[in-house]
Amino acid sequence: MSAIELAPGIHWIGAIDRDIRVFDVIMKAEQGTTYNSYLVRGSKSCALIETVKARFFDSYLSTIKTLVDPAQIDYIVMNHTEPDHSGSLDRMLAEAQSARVVSSKNGVSFIKGILNRDIDVQTVGDGDSIDLGGVTLEFIQAPFLHRPDTMFTFVREHGVLFPCDFLGSHFSDERMFDDQVDDFGHSRRYYFDHIIRPFKEFAVRAMDKIADLPIRVIAPSHGPILRTDLDKYLGEYRNWCAVPAKGDKPRVLVFYASSYGNTRSMAESVAEGCREAGAEVTVFDLEVTDAGSILDEIEAADALAVGSCTINGDAVKPVWDFLSSLATLKLRGKAGAAFGCYGWSGEAVKYIEERLKAVKLKVPVEGIRAQMMVNQQDLEACRKLGKELTGSVNA
Ligand code: FEO
Repeated sequence: MSAIELAPGIHWIGAIDRDIRVFDVIMKAEQGTTYNSYLVRGSKSCALIETVKARFFDSYLSTIKTLVDPAQIDYIVMNHTEPDHSGSLDRMLAEAQSARVVSSKNGVSFIKGILNRDIDVQTVGDGDSIDLGGVTLEFIQAPFLHRPDTMFTFVREHGVLFPCDFLGSHFSDERMFDDQVDDFGHSRRYYFDHIIRPFKEFAVRAMDKIADLPIRVIAPSHGPILRTDLDKYLGEYRNWCAVPAKGDKPRVLVFYASSYGNTRSMAESVAEGCREAGAEVTVFDLEVTDAGSILDEIEAADALAVGSCTINGDAVKPVWDFLSSLATLKLRGKAGAAFGCYGWSGEAVKYIEERLKAVKLKVPVEGIRAQMMVNQQDLEACRKLGKELTGSVNA
């Protein structure tokens, strides 16, 4: 892939990974991704902004060589140190032997860990800058977007912001600019939900920090480079980071997976109990619910009730998938409860309760287990659970 100039003396020199379909085990990458590295040249020195995933190093080096002798690289700025951007650092340092690695203070130990050796890292923070000769790298701390060491780098002379993974997307298109590639709105949102969402407060803080910068181009570490309507992209993030408004009534979501309809009946009774106690309730069948599409709703809820039948001594897969998706959400202080029907062992309820506690929900009401076909007594117990769960929110 050839270098692409995005501003005078600033080139994209990254790698395109068209074939990847699962990123970091947990994310889909249906349109592939890119590992964006940039070369910034001034009149007296030049810098790399991050590197690329290790297996792309050879083509990456070839691209760099079309612009500069790697031995002439003076700085390698690591806006953060995840291996998709730092995986080539060691080999790059072998080529650029006089280059100094630049990172936030938090990045130093990670860099040493990536290289498995000691190294003299130049640490930078808010207000620090490096003059490359008519081109200045300014550094902005942006911790937890999405790692503790994350920082942004800004080239004021050309209005180019390198915000690391922030505002990125897993989307590959060799045209690289937002006004040239196909629609990648879905990829932006998916990326936000999986990478930035757990750190909304930090995202707002960072956007406040950069609000007055004269930004003309946003060059993230993945996906298209943004150079049109930057207010739209930042506005999206502002909206996605917004805290959902509280309603007048407690909001309870009831989720279930049911093999023969018994756990479904329990879910309906839990919902009835919640309504009787004054809650607004929505019931979701996890066999047909994409939790990724209701993350805002989950975050806005006051309580979650989760039911699963027990099969092979465990909660069923759609329930575990749902419980796994809770990891990126702010749930502390919400209430949770579990219920489920079973044949002979009934472990699902216990496992659901453990998981709800692990993602910081309080579990104020003991779960309800019903053996074989549910009866009126079981359903009444579920109704009571719904009432008590709602009551714990009101308390
Ligand atoms: Fe794209 Fe956090 O690495």
